[in-house]
Amino acid sequence: MSAITVIVLAAGGGTRMKSKTMKVLHRVGGRSMVGHVLAAAQSVSPDRVVTVVGHQREQVGAHVLELAPGSVLAVQESQEGTGHAVRVAVEALGGQVDGTVVVLTADTPLLRGDSLAAFLADHEAAERAVSILSGEVADPFGYGRIVRDEDGDVLAIVEQKDADADQREIREINSGILAFDGAFLTEALTRIGNDNAKGEYYLTDAVGLAREAGLTVGAYCLEDVRQTEGANDRSQLARLGKEMNRRILEHWMTEVGVTIMDPDTTWIEDDVVLARDVTILPGTQLLGATVVAEDAVIGPDTTLEDCEVGAGARVVRTHGQLAVIGDGAQVGPYAYLRPGTRTGTGSKVGTFVETKNAVLADGAKVPHLSYVGDAEVGEGSNVGAGTIFANYDGVAKHRTTIGRHARTGSNNTFVAPVTVGDGAGTGAGTVVREDVPPGALAVSAGPQRNLEGWAARRRPGTAQARAAEEAGAGDRSHP
Ligand code: UD1
Ligand code: CA
Repeated sequence: MSAITVIVLAAGGGTRMKSKTMKVLHRVGGRSMVGHVLAAAQSVSPDRVVTVVGHQREQVGAHVLELAPGSVLAVQESQEGTGHAVRVAVEALGGQVDGTVVVLTADTPLLRGDSLAAFLADHEAAERAVSILSGEVADPFGYGRIVRDEDGDVLAIVEQKDADADQREIREINSGILAFDGAFLTEALTRIGNDNAKGEYYLTDAVGLAREAGLTVGAYCLEDVRQTEGANDRSQLARLGKEMNRRILEHWMTEVGVTIMDPDTTWIEDDVVLARDVTILPGTQLLGATVVAEDAVIGPDTTLEDCEVGAGARVVRTHGQLAVIGDGAQVGPYAYLRPGTRTGTGSKVGTFVETKNAVLADGAKVPHLSYVGDAEVGEGSNVGAGTIFANYDGVAKHRTTIGRHARTGSNNTFVAPVTVGDGAGTGAGTVVREDVPPGALAVSAGPQRNLEGWAARRRPGTAQARAAEEAGAGDRSHP
């Protein structure tokens, strides 16, 4: 196989997005559009990748180099057409390119690597000067049409604005993805002119030039033409995003064996990894690099971003970010796991609990209404309802450490830095300011005083006072 050069066109303005962010940087399925295209390009193992940038070249260029560090950026100062853009790319490579050249546009996020590889294999097997990745669409408006002769051989690509009435009826279109013999392309680029309806240098004119020179030209018709659909505005972006999601869910259901109760309300991004027999309940979003192990049940109404969920864990109505949930752990309903949360095997983060930089060892439990920040809770320990780990003194953050098999009471405040020893306990309402030794019970609330007859004296005539009187309340402080 000859050397492969991929050229990605990303210089256009994308004004229809009406955005301060360049079109190809808009995200679908958790990745920028150009990110999807660069990923697809990788599956043909290119020797070189050149991305043509123009509008907002700093923003786009930096993003491209981050995703594909070894790639070349070519700057197209003014957008004079796809032929001009490719010429700029070839100039960036020293003015000449051998082997096979594949031209992609940066706004087709659904493009799959295997389709691109099949297209390229077909191009090389047929030894063509130019191959077009084409497709049949219901509404060809706006696309370049594939014009064929009576034998079905490709004659030319005619752009919408240059097409006559008959040509406009053609439903086979140029996807914008083309493959070339590099030597032919290098030469053809010098001959492409801009004498057309748009006054642009059309890359597609290379097809006619190849025909005139008696070289082989052909189109590879992709059945699943949506893969080459571009997004020019926000509604198309949303449609492509939805279609990508549908495809991702389909993959997990059919190829891996994941149960997704309601695909219409489930969103899973491209980089997420799920194991067999995971169950996803309605209203769930799995984002970023989230990984879910076997038999875990996620949802309903749960968002996890860059989280790791252990086998058989149960995560209900939860929002999580950069958190690790242990095997068989239970989270929620209504839990908020913030970065640095790690929960052990069989642990529990219960209802209305927020955690941050918090490590719960195996079997540790924080079942109700708590904030656990900058803390460690030892194996088998239970944190009482309504506990606050007061980690911030207004200046710096401090850690609280609770040992193994400790039992802390309801409505505690741990004023960090503080340590509760193994097997220690605290009474209800304790404000823990000093370390509790192993096995000790800490209490900080003073003895309780009852002011008898208080309701009758201080709230006379109220329902409270009447209820107290009906219950036989005396006033022992005023005999
Ligand atoms: C192009 C094709 C058309 C095809 C369609 C598919 C040409 C002449 N026409 O038309 O046959 O059906 O794509 O979508 O190629 N770009 C640059 N620099 C430029 C011009 C364009 O980088 O100077 C980039 C754009 O950012 C875009 C891509 O090339 O990503 C296609 O350009 P666009 O102007 O959208 O071409 P179309 O008119 O859609
Ligand atoms: Ca276009």
